[in-house]
Amino acid sequence: MKIQGGNVKLLGEIKIPGDKSISHRAVMIGSLAEGKTTIKNFLMGEDCLSTIECFKNMGVKITVDKEKVEIGGVGLNGLHKPNKTLDVGNSGTTMRLLSGILAGQNFTTTISGDDSIQRRPMDRIIKPLELMGANIEGIDNKYAPLEIKPTISLKGIKYSQPIPSAQVKSCVLLAGLYANGITQVVQPEFSRDHTERMLKYFGYDIKVEDKNVILKHSNKITGKSIIVPGDISSAAYIIVGALILKNSKVLIKEVGLNETRNGIIDVLKAMGGNIKILNYGVVNNEPMGDILVEYSKLEGQIIQGDIIPRLIDEIPILAVASAVAEGTTIIRNAEELKVKESNRIKSIVNELKKMNVDIEETNDGMIIKGPNEIIPAKLETYNDHRIAMALSILSLYVQGESQLNETDSVNISFPDFFEALNELKR
Ligand code: S3P
Repeated sequence: MKIQGGNVKLLGEIKIPGDKSISHRAVMIGSLAEGKTTIKNFLMGEDCLSTIECFKNMGVKITVDKEKVEIGGVGLNGLHKPNKTLDVGNSGTTMRLLSGILAGQNFTTTISGDDSIQRRPMDRIIKPLELMGANIEGIDNKYAPLEIKPTISLKGIKYSQPIPSAQVKSCVLLAGLYANGITQVVQPEFSRDHTERMLKYFGYDIKVEDKNVILKHSNKITGKSIIVPGDISSAAYIIVGALILKNSKVLIKEVGLNETRNGIIDVLKAMGGNIKILNYGVVNNEPMGDILVEYSKLEGQIIQGDIIPRLIDEIPILAVASAVAEGTTIIRNAEELKVKESNRIKSIVNELKKMNVDIEETNDGMIIKGPNEIIPAKLETYNDHRIAMALSILSLYVQGESQLNETDSVNISFPDFFEALNELKR
């Protein structure tokens, strides 16, 4: 795709598609609940549709229309053996969370996904699931496809996570639905807590004491109605676009503002971003509000430590904001980026270099010195949705025409990304 940049501003009001993490969990927990679950503002992105397909393949009735997703929950023990390998596509969240559920079933499943999924580490879930007594095997004990066989019983464990991953935490908690006694996860730092909030909303016995999550085996979950807030990770591209494109002003409606996800707002405000939260409220146990953002002069920041899990998916677009900002930005403690859909440290550093950004890769992040004179370029997305969207925003900023080798990857998390931009572009 060719993107013409320069003299562009973003103006107006927009609603962002539903949160990806919450949409996945709504399908999973709704399927395991008893009775009907209705999900509004569900993210119709490829990753979440993969989750729906997996549960349909295990006998759950799920109907999808423009307005809502309806799930006929089968209860904790109502899933059926699928007649083929469960395919998660590109979705790490589906792979890791679903494996926790599969560990508790009385049938064997094989679960796999695309090339990127088959390169991503699964030992991080295999290890705790084995400690719980699960019967799970991967290639070299690390990679998909995973074969998950029934076990006599799963037992609750206290698992101290070596890295702050919400996917691993959620995998263990979902396996905990099938484990005897108490399942406890101790987080080194807070990671996104949508699983905890949603299980509680569905009536399950789960409590959070500081960084400890304690789930007590109980018998059932009851179907509920859910409204999925807009995805702050998708809103991030519009927010940064509005901050860096002169004379922009955008109101983004009904965005999820969960504390474990809104690190991007804290950092952009610290960089000098004019960002206001309006109409703050709570839906199904998740904070939500409108975000008003206006063009601002940004300054470099040091981004490190416990804020990293709160903005891990937003680092590519933060690199873009930093390229335009005055002064140096240093991002540390972000080595997890190396095992996302692509190695996001390398991907963003390589591509921003092509645009003449003064950026350097480090062991656990990057150093960006702004603002250099940024130039249009031929760019590669590594088939990674977040790299494609971050590069698109910088391409709008720079005078001239840039070219991205592909943009279909945006369908993973923000299918109408370019339509949304076109609506706001002036
Ligand atoms: C997610 C957790 C994060 C995040 C991913 C979605 C989730 O991954 O990067 O996009 O929904 O639980 P990790 O758990 O690997 O940090």
